[in-house]
Amino acid sequence: MVNNHSDDSQARLGILKALGYAGGSFISGESLSRTFGVSRTSIWKHVQALRGQGYGVESVTRHGYRLVSCPDSLTSLEVKRQLNSRIVGREVYCFDSVSSTQDTAFRMAEEGAVEGTVVVAAQQDEGRGRLGRSFFSPEGGLWFSIIFRPPLKPEACLPVSLMAGVAVRDAIDTAMGLPAVLKWPNDILVNGKKVCGILSEIVAETDAVHFIVCGIGLNVNVTPKSFPAELRPIATSLQAELGHQVSCTTLLCRVLEDLDRCYLEMLRSGPATAIAAWRAAPNIIGARVKLTAGEEVIGGKAAALDDDGALLVETRDGAQRRVVFGDVGLVGI
Ligand code: BTN
Repeated sequence: MVNNHSDDSQARLGILKALGYAGGSFISGESLSRTFGVSRTSIWKHVQALRGQGYGVESVTRHGYRLVSCPDSLTSLEVKRQLNSRIVGREVYCFDSVSSTQDTAFRMAEEGAVEGTVVVAAQQDEGRGRLGRSFFSPEGGLWFSIIFRPPLKPEACLPVSLMAGVAVRDAIDTAMGLPAVLKWPNDILVNGKKVCGILSEIVAETDAVHFIVCGIGLNVNVTPKSFPAELRPIATSLQAELGHQVSCTTLLCRVLEDLDRCYLEMLRSGPATAIAAWRAAPNIIGARVKLTAGEEVIGGKAAALDDDGALLVETRDGAQRRVVFGDVGLVGI
């Protein structure tokens, strides 16, 4: 486990943030020691530890310390240093490897983890996808799960999952400059190929949600050559589309901040805001689709997103089908 929530890590995060706010100017050891209520020797020890974690902290006699560089590492400290959010990312746990961040987040949620807790792994051994599929999640990607505890009835929770798709799509589009499209329920496609999948799992009673674990798998720096053969024609990565590597940490923070904004908005104004945001984003509405529901395969057109997040599909005979659960393939892509 890369994360720890000791007083030491809190102090180190505080020192990094203070040096960051100083914007490259020096802060004296005395000022830091006053701010954090510890001795100057203790500040020095924290700075040494930060250097050991890859942070470039310059120290000059009579001037103090200044931050000159930060490592591009997927650690709780670095995520928290960059992150500016209220709920999503209140706690961040980064692991080198787990079976599935869904399982880890589930355990934490059951043990009372706060809403907004994020579990990230550099790789997963048993990544899970929708509909009982496995999910390819080697090193180079961004695999993470977030715990939500929305004050909603279980049947009103589909918008939480749709909201996650909207936030990730937005981050890919605006931060990476890639035209990304939402495929119901919340796969994200770039140039017709999948870069991101989202799996939301819920623990609820008849009329109350205990928690939702929203798992997001984003192919960031995974090379398509390393994809299993069956994925190569249908999946891609940000690196492959952009022609260069992307910082997983920076992208993660961007996605978490977008999610935080969408979630706060949803808490304020209700799930309809997530539905409206999904409808407003580039999506597959209007496209020809092949709908797989259990054994049945139906061809038709994605007609609209219903108010509860279900997909309305217009079948060839002119009938309308409401899809709440299932898989939708795009015809001709
Ligand atoms: C899908 O496309 O079917 C959904 C894929 C969801 C994958 C993510 S990766 C992080 C989290 N942990 C998992 O085991 N699955 C989700």
